Amino acid sequence: MLRIEQVSKTYRSGPDTVVAVREVSLFLARGDFLTIIGSNGAGKSTLLNLIAGVVPLTSGRIVLGEDDVSAAPAYRRARRVSWIVQNPLAGTAPSMSVAENLALAASRGTRTLRPALSRRLRHEIHRRLEALGIGLEQRLDCRVSLLSGGERQALAVLMATLARPEVLLLDEHTAALDPRNAALITQLTCDFVERLGLTVLMVTHNMAQALEVGNRLVMMHRGEVLYELAGEEKRTASVPQLVEFFAQREVADDRLLLG
Ligand SMILES: Nc1ncnc2c1ncn2[C@@H]1O[C@H](COP(=O)(O)OP(=O)(O)OP(=O)(O)O)[C@@H](O)[C@H]1O
Ligand SMILES: [Mg+2]
Repeated sequence: MLRIEQVSKTYRSGPDTVVAVREVSLFLARGDFLTIIGSNGAGKSTLLNLIAGVVPLTSGRIVLGEDDVSAAPAYRRARRVSWIVQNPLAGTAPSMSVAENLALAASRGTRTLRPALSRRLRHEIHRRLEALGIGLEQRLDCRVSLLSGGERQALAVLMATLARPEVLLLDEHTAALDPRNAALITQLTCDFVERLGLTVLMVTHNMAQALEVGNRLVMMHRGEVLYELAGEEKRTASVPQLVEFFAQREVADDRLLLG
């Protein structure tokens, strides 16, 4: 369903070049949930940005379903690829209300600037917010800028899933939240992913989380995929084993180890 073939990204600024992603190949079947770990600067965010199309490829190919989307701009992919980042402000329109944001997500890909909120849609939105269990259904007309980080991130997850994407990209989307909210958003994300059978790539610095969720795991270092775990091997792996593996290759950084 998603084929990343020999993808590279080189950043050039003046005389300096940084190979952020180096000939990475990954094939994800529908419903695969891949967690990505790696030290700072390993190229994790760049890889997700390349899939979202917000950063152009230097070389390689990205094929979504049957379509080569390597040269397609982000807005052309947005209907098929949802992307949630660490900053809870990024995924939502802060000056619009909760209801308007959700309506926008639900109408993604259609040519409306401010989608009309029909009574039916409002009812549906109310129902979905209620199901989150954090009281957001009481704040339908509240501007998103007034919500807490956790509330915004919950909204961003709901928006991403309302758009019914083929691929969901999560770039440390719980990293800015306190532990309780982070756990809540992780749970929420996993529930949606399972219910909708989404194909997911999730970057996390938390090794325990990377092992706990999803069916596959990769470790990136200096732009390359060094290690992959899947199936039974992933289910039975432990954090100390991963730490040991990384320490042997001198690739672990403090954040990775402490996560
Ligand atoms: N726009 C850019 N211009 C130049 N270099 C960049 C740019 N974006 C990223 N890089 C470089 O590419 C490399 C990979 O960065 P990337 O953000 O993908 O790492 P990461 O694995 O997400 O790290 P972190 O864990 O810190 O988020 C880094 O060396 C970074 O400095
Ligand atoms: Mg990053």
